[in-house]
Amino acid sequence: MQRKTVIALLTVGTILSAGAAYAHSSANHQEQQQKSATLRTPDADAMYKTVEYLSQQPREAGTEGELRAVKYIEKQFKSLGYDTEIQPFPIYNYKTNKVSVKINGTSLNETPEPFVGDASGMVSAPLIFAGKAKKSNINVEVKGKIALVERGDIPFVEKVQNLIDGGAIGVIMFNNSPDGIVPGQMPENTTFPAVAISKAAGLKLVEQLKNTPMNAELDVDIAKIKKESYNVIASRKPDKDQDTGEIVTIGAHHDSVPEAPGANDDASGVSAVLELAKLLAKTPIDTELRFLTFGSEERGLIGSTYYVDHLPKKEISRIKAHFQMDMIGSKNAGRNHPVGGLIMYTLDGRKNLVTDLSAAVSKQIFSKAIPYGKSGRSDHEPFHQVGIPTALFMHAPAEPDYHKPTDTIDKISKEKLKQTVEIIEDSVYRIADPSTPAISKDKVIQATVDYPFENRNLD
Ligand code: BES
Ligand code: ZN
Repeated sequence: MQRKTVIALLTVGTILSAGAAYAHSSANHQEQQQKSATLRTPDADAMYKTVEYLSQQPREAGTEGELRAVKYIEKQFKSLGYDTEIQPFPIYNYKTNKVSVKINGTSLNETPEPFVGDASGMVSAPLIFAGKAKKSNINVEVKGKIALVERGDIPFVEKVQNLIDGGAIGVIMFNNSPDGIVPGQMPENTTFPAVAISKAAGLKLVEQLKNTPMNAELDVDIAKIKKESYNVIASRKPDKDQDTGEIVTIGAHHDSVPEAPGANDDASGVSAVLELAKLLAKTPIDTELRFLTFGSEERGLIGSTYYVDHLPKKEISRIKAHFQMDMIGSKNAGRNHPVGGLIMYTLDGRKNLVTDLSAAVSKQIFSKAIPYGKSGRSDHEPFHQVGIPTALFMHAPAEPDYHKPTDTIDKISKEKLKQTVEIIEDSVYRIADPSTPAISKDKVIQATVDYPFENRNLD
């Protein structure tokens, strides 16, 4: 089946006030021309089958489940004629051998929890209260001391980093809510003794410190177990005589959280990446296409960060857009918002080439320009951080099955999978179509539409 799309091309003139980041328009509208390109219709049944296969078991990073998915995905790319690469990278699991906290030689009367990560170390030093370990709290003299800090306001990893930067040699973090002990998270590649305790135990220490200097001893022994996780990369270059030197990347994450089948999070996105690879396998292009599935997203965007960190600098500037799909198939997400509740999230809450194109395409196909909003929490983050225009496509608010064992195939809507792929296929092709100019030439750009910012609830 074939679907016709009409791309309106406008010769560049002054910047249009349509509110679109890439809205360039003709000073003279008579210069407007029309171009058409042929796009294929996504096969919703094929996508559904992919989700079904991938969600037969959890795909936790570093497990057999991930590897099974990785092999399946690579095989599909290969059968479509793409050059493929499986990019391995290390991840670490941690096992607590010992965790002990003593104040003035006496153990606490609760069992502390080490931070998740390499929270190992044996230290003894004066204890000092350093608020929430914000940069502004670190002006207290933490150097050479063990810092007592409160949970909240800033991420765990930032607290630890601020303390390390300030010269502290260990941290005891107490909860800011009465519900037990919440272990923090260590920054990547960092060894530093860090433990969490309850709010009650923490506040008691804060009080005592007001009157008496105290000494703390931390003895934490964590075994670090190395595992391998993977990104899958498939690419297709344009013919040499048509090559603009530009690249478009399209991604999803193939890992799931432990014990969840991750049908929507994010087998749905992977099915879309594979379907887009199929739809665009033979189409004439002037832009390199890269289809990516990332591992270890659920452990902190590790796969996508590794991918971006290992791109040659010159390649980064050639990537003109990254389309990320994460949770694009749930029947139970998106409430009654238009187009199934599909929304485009950018890390800074600003429009960019990706959102401009997809808003215009959705308006054309579904008579409604999908909105954009502000969020990280997926693999678009590392792309954004190196300056690549990118957005996360998902249905919001998220479904109640998010990160649960109930994230299963029966909750998947073929229609939603298909809608998302239709929009992204057309958007990608507005860049990669040889009859449209290179993005960096900026001479002619797509017709744009107005589309709203929405501060929509994610959960
Ligand atoms: N697909 C989710 C992100 C998500 C879920 C965004 C619900 C908005 C609403 C993603 O896989 C995820 O769970 N991300 C983690 C953060 C990541 C940095 C570990 C999260 O949001 O907790
Ligand atoms: Zn996800």
